Amino acid sequence: MTILQETYALANGTRIPKIAFGTWQIPDGDETFGPVTFALANGYRHVDTARAYGNEASVGRAVREIEGVARDEIFVTTKLPAEIKTYDGALESFETSMAALDLEHVDLYLIHAPWPWKEMGKDCAEGNKAVWRAFEQIHALGRARAIGVSNFGVNDLKVIIDDCQVKPMVNQIKFYVGNTQKETVDFCRLNSILVEAYSPLATGKILNNANVRTMAERYGKSVAQICIRYVLQHDLLPLPKSTHGPRIIENGDVDFEISQADMTYLDSLTDTV
Ligand code: A2P
Repeated sequence: MTILQETYALANGTRIPKIAFGTWQIPDGDETFGPVTFALANGYRHVDTARAYGNEASVGRAVREIEGVARDEIFVTTKLPAEIKTYDGALESFETSMAALDLEHVDLYLIHAPWPWKEMGKDCAEGNKAVWRAFEQIHALGRARAIGVSNFGVNDLKVIIDDCQVKPMVNQIKFYVGNTQKETVDFCRLNSILVEAYSPLATGKILNNANVRTMAERYGKSVAQICIRYVLQHDLLPLPKSTHGPRIIENGDVDFEISQADMTYLDSLTDTV
């Protein structure tokens, strides 16, 4: 078994594969279908999309059509658009996502952000509480095996936690060497919320970092592999994204160990991009 088949347990016991294939910024159609199919054929078992990415249809098609991998072996995540902050809107958007994916259920459904992207920081506490009630219903009906949030800070999380029946099981945030959001990660750990790390390669910007490169050479690994391994050794779940086959394989080939001293060094880096 490689790390691509290894899982974490979410708070409700659902097993979630430790590395996800990210699809942010990949256009719908063959540009998404090809890489997702390639990733699944090469051992990935977790695919992350969002309604806002516009590529759910191609992700769903790849999951349905991949040969030799059953639906229940694949973990599929999608997200509610950040702009939707009503109970009815959330239920309706979920159905739109499910129709695009053309799947019976999703494995994880996330609120994409605590505020609309054009109004970052806006107080949407009431809206998020209403949306979460819809999420709890979707979860209770078995349409989503797990539910969570994305881009939530500590205060955003507290709003939900203080009001809910079922706590968020996941918080997906931007996390990479030099950007570790310690306060949020610590709070999530205390509340049994698994942190997923999007942009673990800082959307590619960290790949030229001289400090990480020097370390990567010492391990005989690529900078990308060091960055993905770094996330895993923090017990978080990385979502690397690539449209190129060799890179997709490289990003899943991370069965090695960064020493504690080197982890401490990576933790100390700040201006990495
Ligand atoms: P591409 O899709 O052309 O392969 P992140 O996962 O942090 O969002 O980073 C994604 C970016 O990093 C994309 O531009 C992707 O380019 C690039 N990338 C992903 N994996 C690798 C890799 N192993 N080596 C070099 N670049 C990579």
